[in-house]
Amino acid sequence: MSTQDGGGGPPLSCLSLAKLREREFGRLDARDEVYLDYTGSALPFDSHVQWHLTLLRSEVFGNPHSESPASLASSRWTDAATVAVLAFVDADPAEYDVVFTANASAAAKLVGESFPFERRSRLVLAADNHNSVLGMREFARAACATVAYLPLGPGLRLRDAQPVLAAASPRHPSLFAFPAQSNFSGVRHPLALVRLARSRGYMVLLDAAAFVPTAVLSLREVPADFVTLSLYKVLGYPTGVGALVARRESLGRLRRPWFSGGTVEFVSVQNDLHQLRRGAEGFHDGTPNFLALSAIPRGLALIADIGVPRIGAHVRRMTEALMAGLRALHHRNGRPMVTIYGPVDGVARGGTIAFNLQDERGARIHHAAVEARAAAYRVSVRSGCFCNPGASEHAFGFKAARVAACLSASCRPERDPSLSREDFERCMGDTPAGAVRVSPGVATSERDIARLLEALEEWRR
Ligand SMILES: Cc1ncc(COP(=O)(O)O)c(C=O)c1O
Repeated sequence: MSTQDGGGGPPLSCLSLAKLREREFGRLDARDEVYLDYTGSALPFDSHVQWHLTLLRSEVFGNPHSESPASLASSRWTDAATVAVLAFVDADPAEYDVVFTANASAAAKLVGESFPFERRSRLVLAADNHNSVLGMREFARAACATVAYLPLGPGLRLRDAQPVLAAASPRHPSLFAFPAQSNFSGVRHPLALVRLARSRGYMVLLDAAAFVPTAVLSLREVPADFVTLSLYKVLGYPTGVGALVARRESLGRLRRPWFSGGTVEFVSVQNDLHQLRRGAEGFHDGTPNFLALSAIPRGLALIADIGVPRIGAHVRRMTEALMAGLRALHHRNGRPMVTIYGPVDGVARGGTIAFNLQDERGARIHHAAVEARAAAYRVSVRSGCFCNPGASEHAFGFKAARVAACLSASCRPERDPSLSREDFERCMGDTPAGAVRVSPGVATSERDIARLLEALEEWRR
């Protein structure tokens, strides 16, 4: 089994990023498209997809969990994927294991549903968490645990954690969950919070989904109990593979609320008994995505070959160029056209920029209209709240009482069970409840940025 064969041409580490774009992402220029939604997903590398196709066409892969040659072939690649993911986050295999999931959300849910919350437990959530992490609060609430938030302050950075991270009792398991990087503002939150929270008796879940595509994470230095990530955000391909990287000891403190195929040593129907497998295996549900998993070692080897620090430096340059371009946009009357949410410089931030456009009188232009205008220029950006309600509420200056009133006024279950965004925005005083999000990646060029800015300039009056 090798991750180096196939592909052809010089190794990616020898190529300039412009050449790499040509070789691996030629479809962008062939289709005259600009892709600026890397926080949504990375783009697949051509050579990776080719290599995987060759592998699938040459090997015989069967459902794992058996001793047949086909089954063992799949198991070998799954084991190689585990080794590759542990190396990717610099985790000591003696201390950490990997549970493969469908995505980062499923990894967070595994922790939420299995965490031994009890009445005197605390769940502390950063207000900047993605919904997939915020959702854990429902499990905590069901166990009558206390749920508290670490609020956001100026620049969409987390406020001082000391008061909220009140010492947790070692007898009542408590959890602190925060993102290493915001999927809304790109802010990188201090990883020192991991040690601080652990020293105060919390287990820590670090959501690394938006961080690891462009920054190096070392679990030897940042000893989180649980780390969640989605591999398509790093590799583009395949989708459907996420990971919970968990400290073995912390995994042992979780209590799975159910069992399924692949998770048990035995089940007796007659005796109403079951015994979960120990460690990560007890957290797998049914058949893993074994074909997709066989693509992971090669994908992570490609990334290591280019180098995450090099990708990160390129993304930083593109992000700074984008922010400078956005800040330079002004109407003829001198009013700035753009409000950027969060940091407007390159300090302690990754490559995600959330912003809104405003017209010459200062009225916000709806984010959906901006996304549509970009699309007309064949530029892919994202608009909305990006599943990050805490950062959105803070960025838009929404007051809790007003939001509560407008949420209940806009929910019309008798007519339509879904919330009407238009009604909500009207109730909030005709304020668009969303923003535009742009996130460059390894294949982004200055020309891509210029094309987006050109699309935005159409609003200049
Ligand atoms: C910071 C962060 N956490 C969690 C998620 C959820 O990832 P997924 O949708 O792959 O489960 C995302 C997705 O964008 C994210 O950016």
